[in-house]
Amino acid sequence: MVQVSDDVSTVIVETREETWQAHGLDRCTGEQSIAFCESLFAKYLGGYRLMSNANHLRGSAWLNFNRVLCGQWHHQNIVLIGDAAHTAHFGIGSGTKLAMEDAMSLVARVARADDVQAGLHAYQAERSLEALKLQSAARNRMEWFENVARYAILEPRQFAYALLTGSQRIGHANLKLRDSGFVEDYERWLARRSGVPDAARPPMFLPFQLAGMGLANRVVVSPMAQYKAVDGVPGDWHLMHYGARAIGGAGLLFTEMTCVSPSGRITPGCTGLWNEAQRDAWRRIVAFVHAESSAKFCLQIGHSGRKGSTQLGWERIDYPLDADNWPLLAPSALPYMTGVSQTPREMTRGDMDAVRDEFVRAARFALDAGFDMLELHLAHGYLLASFLSPLTNRRRDHYGGDVAARLRFPLEVFSAVRAIWPGQRPLSARISACDWSEGGLSEEDLLAIAGALKRAGADVLDVSTGQTVADQRPVYGRMWQTPFADRIRNEIGIPTIAVGNIFEADHVNSIIAAGRADLCALARPHLSNPAWTLSAAAEQKFQEQCWPEPYLSGKAQLERNLERAAQAVGPV
Ligand SMILES: Cc1cc2nc3c(=O)[nH]c(=O)nc-3n(C[C@H](O)[C@H](O)[C@H](O)COP(=O)(O)OP(=O)(O)OC[C@H]3O[C@@H](n4cnc5c(N)ncnc54)[C@H](O)[C@@H]3O)c2cc1C
Ligand SMILES: Cc1cc2nc3c(=O)[nH]c(=O)nc-3n(C[C@H](O)[C@H](O)[C@H](O)COP(=O)(O)O)c2cc1C
Repeated sequence: MVQVSDDVSTVIVETREETWQAHGLDRCTGEQSIAFCESLFAKYLGGYRLMSNANHLRGSAWLNFNRVLCGQWHHQNIVLIGDAAHTAHFGIGSGTKLAMEDAMSLVARVARADDVQAGLHAYQAERSLEALKLQSAARNRMEWFENVARYAILEPRQFAYALLTGSQRIGHANLKLRDSGFVEDYERWLARRSGVPDAARPPMFLPFQLAGMGLANRVVVSPMAQYKAVDGVPGDWHLMHYGARAIGGAGLLFTEMTCVSPSGRITPGCTGLWNEAQRDAWRRIVAFVHAESSAKFCLQIGHSGRKGSTQLGWERIDYPLDADNWPLLAPSALPYMTGVSQTPREMTRGDMDAVRDEFVRAARFALDAGFDMLELHLAHGYLLASFLSPLTNRRRDHYGGDVAARLRFPLEVFSAVRAIWPGQRPLSARISACDWSEGGLSEEDLLAIAGALKRAGADVLDVSTGQTVADQRPVYGRMWQTPFADRIRNEIGIPTIAVGNIFEADHVNSIIAAGRADLCALARPHLSNPAWTLSAAAEQKFQEQCWPEPYLSGKAQLERNLERAAQAVGPV
């Protein structure tokens, strides 16, 4: 409800289709619908009447949102502005603003340009980006409302916070600016709930418990292939790389995808864990992480499947090696890129036994090497993921068909690993929540997969998307994959890790505080700044962050400089 003048407010009533039908609203006239809403919301209307702005809709005031997206906003002497060019769901109340700004931009751009067509081009270039951002926020907001039942499990305070930040446009810091009392109170409540002293702290610094493993904060260094191993053995590069990120403050550190066999590697530079030499090399890195930091260390294991035998990440990624290729395995004999990639062999039951045992062997080595946690890579189109997606699994036997059949082999591997991996140490699965391609995983598939992994003993799900097929069409944006982590967490009831373009402390704070995920993984930000969490702690004046002792003078200087910069800007 938004007050637009002294005596009029805009009221939008949203409901799920089944609720709407159950109350017979599909058969009501506009007047009857209004009478129904007046009685339903009488407590909140304080005696005011509802009126409709939709009398022209002949009979009903109800409508479905029409999402309009245009690739081209002008043609000869016709130009689109406002709702004709783009619509944004009413939930964020910005359609009029967008339309007015379009008009201003159109006038300014055409007036400034050498000719009208150039002006129209400039107008579209300027406005389409802004429209996309608002459409993305509006979609988040719409999905939040349409799936509000999912959030009924949140406690009322968290529900309110999640409602306020649901579009992902207003984050923790912005909310604090608007109502610092509310946010500080809320932070204290979150802290109490997490069992830390009753003091407000940024939500990213709340501790978290996963099985028997305690994490100091909610920041995760996401798995990132380094392509620097020789014969699968991690070397000095890896010690430096993981060492730097462990002392950089994140609560949880992931290894890159470490392959369970030589032919399960993506590239010749991938790390592996199929022999003692590799185990011992990992043990050295684990020992450093444990000795010098409070970070917990998770090994990600996987098998490349049909995406194996390819070039290093900074060469032609996903393209086959020029020489020395090895044979590939997959659920179905389909190449990743037609005419480019090698064609894999369809796995036999014997291949499945061998791969399952390789995963178990790697897990045993991981235990010996001292890892705190293990993750199975069931995402990004690698072997286990390619069993899950109908785009890559075309089998007609026991292991292909409906989602239960496609899950069969990945679940068998997961359960075999769970059987030897101690209950106290968390076991995770990384999944691709959708394929961004027609005919890919459905929402029902996703929920079935998440539910099955939970039942098979997963402690947490690491929720990524895509990379299943080469012609995927993902929709990128800030925190773009978080809605999937949110859905799984709150519908299936399992902790989740959100990942994907989460790059500001404010993103992490907002996601954690709203209960959209339990942990936030950052990949690329940790490539440019291994100490991302230390920097975020200094920026937010969080004093309880543990810094390596040799770095304490750096901490003091950073905090001083940030303080000076804040004073120079003055109060916002
Ligand atoms: C329920 C609801 C609540 C909303 N709440 C808000 C809010 O709180 N804040 C906000 O900013 N936005 C809100 N909006 C969105 C906002 O109303 C629209 O985004 C905005 O009106 C778009 O302006 P426009 O000029 O592009 O289109 P419109 O306002 O739709 O104007 C188009 C005009 O063209 C006329 N027309 C259509 N066809 C023809 C024709 N062939 N010949 C001549 N005329 C024609 C139509 O009758 C209409 O008057 C809401 C929308 C809805 C439906
Ligand atoms: C260089 C690089 C290597 C990656 N390697 C892996 C990997 O080994 N395993 C994996 O699951 N994801 C891998 N990813 C994906 C990241 O973990 C992460 O999901 C993705 O980059 C999105 O996060 P970001 O927006 O914070 O970068 C890699 C990403 C990058 C940039």
